[in-house]
Amino acid sequence: MDARAINATLRKGQTPDADALSWFARGLADGTVTDAQAGAFAMGVCLNGLTDAGRAAFTAAMRDSGKVLQWNMDAPVLDKHSTGGVGDCVSLILAPALAACGVYVPMISGRGLGHTGGTLDKLEAIPGFRTTLSEDQFRHVVGEVGCAIVSASADIAPADKRLYAIRDVTGTVESLDLITASILSKKLAAGLEGLVLDVKCGSGAFMKSADDARALARALVDTANATGCQTSALITDMSQPLAPSLGNALEVIDVMRVLTGATSGRLLDLTIALGAALLEQAGIENGTDKMNKAISSGAAAEKFGAMVYAMGGPVRFVEDWARFLPEAPVIREVPAPEAGTVTAIDGEALGLTVVELGGGRQVETDIVDPAVGLSDVVSIGDTVRKGQPLARIHAAREAQADAAEEAVRAAITLGKGPASVPDLILEHIA
Ligand code: URA
Repeated sequence: MDARAINATLRKGQTPDADALSWFARGLADGTVTDAQAGAFAMGVCLNGLTDAGRAAFTAAMRDSGKVLQWNMDAPVLDKHSTGGVGDCVSLILAPALAACGVYVPMISGRGLGHTGGTLDKLEAIPGFRTTLSEDQFRHVVGEVGCAIVSASADIAPADKRLYAIRDVTGTVESLDLITASILSKKLAAGLEGLVLDVKCGSGAFMKSADDARALARALVDTANATGCQTSALITDMSQPLAPSLGNALEVIDVMRVLTGATSGRLLDLTIALGAALLEQAGIENGTDKMNKAISSGAAAEKFGAMVYAMGGPVRFVEDWARFLPEAPVIREVPAPEAGTVTAIDGEALGLTVVELGGGRQVETDIVDPAVGLSDVVSIGDTVRKGQPLARIHAAREAQADAAEEAVRAAITLGKGPASVPDLILEHIA
C-alpha cells in the first residue's frame, strides 16, 4: 500500500477499496502517513466524496485504529450522540435516566466546540468530578451505576485525533464523509449495541438547514448500521437554546431542576424522546413511559448522584447541589428594549457570547470558567414588556457583562405579531 496511490484514486473521483482505507487509517494512527498525505487525502474526500460502502469501510477502519471496548452485560449497551448545539445538556439527564431503565450507558463525550458547549466541561463544573478514567475505572462505574460519562482516552480512535487536527488547518472539515467517520469512529469504539443520534438543525447548530441536517442524519444512520450498530436519528430543532441556560454550572442547574421534577419543557421532552427511541430500538417496550417514570420517580436523579460520587464529586450532590456549584460575581438582567414577542433567536451568537464570557474556549489551551454564562433566556413565542428580562448574564467582570448585554440584545429578535414556534422534533430517520 502507498498513500500516493490512494490519493491518486481519490483524485480521479474513485473510492479506494476497503483494504486501502484501512491501511490509511492505520497509517494515520501509527505515523506511516505524513501530514501532507493526510491533508491531500482529506481534500480528495472533500472534493470527490466516497461511496456509501467506502464511507462505512473508512469509519470502521478509523474505529479500529485504536482500542474497541467490548462489554459482556446482562442488558443492552446503548448511547446517544448529539451533533452539538446550545443549552444542550441532554446527556446529563439521559445517561442516568437510561441507567434507571436498566440498560448500560458507557458515554464517551467531548468538550465545547466553536459556539457549542461540551458535556465534559459541564460535568467538570461539579467540584471534584473527574472525566478522565482508566478503562478499569470506566468499566467499574458503568457496571456499578449503569452509566458513566468520560473523555476519550488516547487509544480511542487515534486516527481520528490526527485527521481531525489536520482537517482543522486544511479547510477540510466540511465533508459529510469525514464528519461521519469522525463522529462514529469514536462512538463505535465504545462497543455500543445501539445508538441514537440527535442531529441538530437551526441557528444554534452546525447544520443550519433541514436539508443539510437530513443529509448528515442519513449518512450517520446508514454508516453506523452498516458497521453493525443499530442506529436511528432524530432531527431536532436548534433555532433556540434547548435549555433556558447556556454555560457549564448554569446548565447543571437546569439538569438538576429536571431531574428533581422542579421544571419541564423542551430539555425534558427531548430527553424522553431520545431515550424512548433508543429503548424501543433495543426491543424494550413502552420506552416513553419508562423514561417518564425514571425521571418522575427520582430514580434517574439517584443514578446521577451515584455517578457523580463514583467519579469524584460530592457524596450528597443531588440533595444539596446549589451549595456545590460555583456562582459568578457579576449577575445582571438584560432588559427588553421594547415590548414584543420573541420571533427569532440567534443561537450561535448566544453560544459565542458564552465563549466570550469565558464559558468556552477561543483556543484549545484556554481554561473554562464554570460559573459564567446566560440563564433564564426567553423562548420563541414569549411575550415581553419593555424592561422585562430577555436573559440573565453571569460574568466574571462588569466589562464582560457589558459586552454580553449588547450581544444578547442583538441575538434576540422581538416582533409585533404572533411568532411561529418551531416543532422540537422535526424528523425520525431510521
Ligand atoms: N464532531 C466530530 O467529532 N467530528 C467532526 O468531524 C465534526 C464534529
